[in-house]
This record gives sequence, C-alpha cells and structure tokens, in this order.
Amino acid sequence: MSKFKVTEVRPSRCKNIAEVFWEDGHVSSFHTIWLRCNCRCSVCCRTIVGQALGERSKLPCQLLVSEATIHDEGAKINFKFAPETDHVTVMTSDWLRSACYCDACISGMLDEREMKFHLPSESQLPVAEYEQLDTDKGMFELIGTVFDRGFVVVENVPREDGSVVKTGKRMAPLIGGVCGEKFDVVDVQSTEHAAYTSSGLPFHADQCIYEAPEGILLLHALRFDDVVEGGNSLLVDMFHVIDILRKQSPDDFRVLSRVPVTFSTIDYNAQLPGHVITRKPIISLDYDDKVVGFNWSPGTEDALRVHEDDVEPFYKAYMRLEKLINDPKNQFKFRLRSGDMLCINNRRMVHSREGFKRNGGVRHMQACYLNIEDLRSKYMVLGRKLNRPVVAPKIGNCSSI
Ligand SMILES: [Fe+2]
Repeated sequence: MSKFKVTEVRPSRCKNIAEVFWEDGHVSSFHTIWLRCNCRCSVCCRTIVGQALGERSKLPCQLLVSEATIHDEGAKINFKFAPETDHVTVMTSDWLRSACYCDACISGMLDEREMKFHLPSESQLPVAEYEQLDTDKGMFELIGTVFDRGFVVVENVPREDGSVVKTGKRMAPLIGGVCGEKFDVVDVQSTEHAAYTSSGLPFHADQCIYEAPEGILLLHALRFDDVVEGGNSLLVDMFHVIDILRKQSPDDFRVLSRVPVTFSTIDYNAQLPGHVITRKPIISLDYDDKVVGFNWSPGTEDALRVHEDDVEPFYKAYMRLEKLINDPKNQFKFRLRSGDMLCINNRRMVHSREGFKRNGGVRHMQACYLNIEDLRSKYMVLGRKLNRPVVAPKIGNCSSI
C-alpha cells in the first residue's frame, strides 16, 4: 500500500522535465536525466551495496519524455524517454516522493535534522547513569542526549585505569591520533602541552590539526579530590554562537567561512613525535549555505598567512566570535566529580578548563576519542530496534545530513 499517490504526470514544454502531481496537492518537477539515472527497474536499481549501475556515460546527452503512464492506482509510473526505444524507466511513488528535490522538500529534509540550541541559563546539565549502557534503551537515550545537547555527564563510571577505553568501546570504535589510544590529563608540569599542567585552557575543539577532528571526546574523572581548588569544566555550543554571529554580523560570519587558519602540532622531540598540519576556515558551510562544521583551537593555530586584504577583516571577525565564546551567558560551567565521564561532541562544542590549585590533592582525567559517525549509526540502529524511529541528527561532521 503506497503512502503517496500520483494523480497526473505532465511533461514540460521542452519535455526535459516531468511535472508530477500528487494526491495531497504537492507538485514535483523531475528532470528526465535524473529520472533515467535513478530508474527503479530490476536492471537499473541497485539491490546490494556497492553494485555497479549502468554506465551513465552511455546514455544519450538529452532525453525527452515520450510517454508517461500511471499504474497501480498511482503507486507506479512508467516513463519512456526519446531517443531511447528499448528502456522503460520505472518509478514507485513512495520512493519518488521521498527523493523529491523541490525547494520545500530540501528545506524540510535539512530542517528536521537541524541542531536545537539550549541556553545554559535555561537548561539543566544533561546527565546519564553508567548503568544505562547495559540496556539498548539506556544506550539509545544516552546517545540521543549527546546529539541533542552536544554533551552528557555519565555518572558512576568505575574508577579504574582504562575504564574510559572499555566504556568507549561499548559505544563506538575508538580513534587514536597524536595522543595515542588513551591519554591521561593530569598535572605533570608538562613542558610539551598546557593540558598536562594546572593552568587554565582556552576554549577549543580537540585536534583541529586534522582534516577531520575526532568526533567524540570522552573525559573520565578517575580522581578529582575535593581539596583541589578550581578545575571546573566549561563548554560552549559553537553552532549556537556562530548562529548568533551570523545574525549580528553577517560580514564577519562570511570572512570566517572563507579565510583559512593554519592548525598544526609539530614536535619531533615529543614522547610521540609528530608532524600534523592543515589549513581551513573557522566556519564550514555546505552547498545550502548551512553551517556544518567549525574549527576553533587557538592553542594549535599557526601564524595567519593569507592575502593582505584579508588580514584586518579576519582579526575583526575573529575577535567578535571569540567575545561570544567568552561570554559567560553562552557557557555551561560545572565541576566533574570522581567517577564522572564527560562525553562531548567535539564537532559541536568547544571545551575549556579553569586553572586549578592542587592543595595536595589530585585531578586526574583519562581520555579517548570515538568515531562520531559510528556512534550516530548505533543510535539509528537502536532506534529502529526499539521501535523508536528517529531522523538522523546533524552532528557537525561537515554535512547537513
Ligand atoms: Fe581538549
């Protein structure tokens, strides 16, 4: 039984477009070349992943509607396109409607995946329980919170060395990098990295030095003694502040989406020697002009090397965005307790740490990274299994969908 029924198909005047009229009043326009390339007949339609479809380069340059007939009470349409004589292009109505590319349908597709912003002053800290990981329902809800809010504090994670890795592996595959599989964030008065001292850290996303920074950051508080003063965690939703910038100062927004910054970590003498470098704008936009990603990491920025005309506009725009990030109104601020594991969408949120005084105590975090696309995949699969279907949310991986 089809959900959508076609009532009429009308070729355009030049016959390179088929106008499809639907029972619910919607009207779609499909180009003949699009219909032919997406034919659902048993020869053309892919039945398994990776299967080769017909060679598109063998199709005629121009196809014109010569015949369009509706079958099965509006559930199926057959097309013939001249000059082809031997092929019937088949479309099922539900599939065709799901793929409609009119402006309204594209907007609908993007809007239902869009992130919803939460003001720190108007929302509670998102929390979850470690035990949730034991059930599909608990895991589904925990992941859902990460994607809805950008982060979640998982309470009562066993305080054992490597717990963060064991817990992470239950959620999604781990990703290593210049930090290794797991790393300890503890004050060792490092001369290599500010994270391994007791000083405060500026807001940043981890690993902007890579073409694709790691998606999920897990930070497990193995030990955070009460006697330690300071050391609060801070988070800012970059998609939210970029949205504010776009509305308040569209010119600055454009500059930051165009002018590239160089991010690097180059150290041949470090414990794990490395040379990783990339150059990209702070704001990533897609085909539809949607913000789909960001790069913000003052601690790994190199000197700006761009066209002379871009230097002053860049710093003006940069400062404006930095002010928004540093505005306490936009910041979630909280203190992790021993056993808490902070799970952050590193492609959406920037994080920071206040400086701390040990006072004879210990602040010891263990951290690792997870693949964010696999985590979303798990969320979708669990949703289906639990009969709680959800639309795949936008996650900040430089894609709207
Ligand atoms: Fe970090």
